Amino acid sequence: MAHHEHQHSTEADESTQLALLDLDAEVLHEHLSEITASLRRLAEPPVRRVLDLGSGSGTGTFTLLDGFEEATAIAVDASAPMLEHLSEQAAARGASDRVSTVQADLDESFPRLDGPVDLVWASASMHHLADPARVLSEVFAAVRPGGLLAVAELEGFPRFLPDDLGFGRPGFEERCHELLAAKRAEHLPHISGDWGKLLAEAGFTVAADRTFDIHLPAPVSAATARYAEVSLRRMQPFLAARLDADDVATLDTLLADGPGGVLHRDDLTVRTTRTFLAATRP
Ligand SMILES: C[S@@+](CC[C@H](N)C(=O)[O-])C[C@H]1O[C@@H](n2cnc3c(N)ncnc32)[C@H](O)[C@@H]1O
Repeated sequence: MAHHEHQHSTEADESTQLALLDLDAEVLHEHLSEITASLRRLAEPPVRRVLDLGSGSGTGTFTLLDGFEEATAIAVDASAPMLEHLSEQAAARGASDRVSTVQADLDESFPRLDGPVDLVWASASMHHLADPARVLSEVFAAVRPGGLLAVAELEGFPRFLPDDLGFGRPGFEERCHELLAAKRAEHLPHISGDWGKLLAEAGFTVAADRTFDIHLPAPVSAATARYAEVSLRRMQPFLAARLDADDVATLDTLLADGPGGVLHRDDLTVRTTRTFLAATRP
């Protein structure tokens, strides 16, 4: 890693990350609804206590509260700004009495809960953990017999751009994703975890294991264009240090306020692969 790229997240990083999580949920809301519907089919009632591990900005928390109307949720995250945003969202939705937050680093210790939970949700959070197997065994102990654990994972940022942008060399986005995948593999050893195996080893019975290939055609929503722009802008320092001069110029054009810029293009699409597993505690 180049010396000017600091390891610790700054306030600006946090707020960009927060915006990206909210945009992801907005862009993929149909996918989230589909997952919630399958959780409603799989969960053995009653579902009154939901635990959201690595809740981030709370998109999963609120989707679950909508899907399980009797439930209250405990949102756990290491990041205080994420949890503050989540609490503000809860207040804005008139749902403060249904949400509590716990700031905890799951790599250090599992939060102490006041009794068992019925449903645990971990979306795009398991791959961040140093030892997912240890945390999963603690999840197993936290969920009641008959309760459900849902794990959602992703292989990376969505792809938005056509192969041929009309300028620069074709295959620009693919080259960016190759660089980003190498970075993720280095920093997040569990990014391609075999979640089915890990859930089974923790004692769960896997009830669903699905891969969703999501493709939203052009024209996309304004939120999608913002998602493409914010994610590309966030990766710019990393990519600009590694791409060749031609691709750096392409990146600049994509982020500029001209006709080639991502906010002005009419050929954006969304392509992403998400995995979803649900498992019960026998
Ligand atoms: C990619 S975000 C996903 C957020 C949310 N679940 C979603 O799907 O939108 C990952 C979240 O996990 C949290 N996280 C990462 N490592 C963690 C740890 N060791 N303990 C608690 N939370 C952690 C991060 O702060 C971040 O909010």
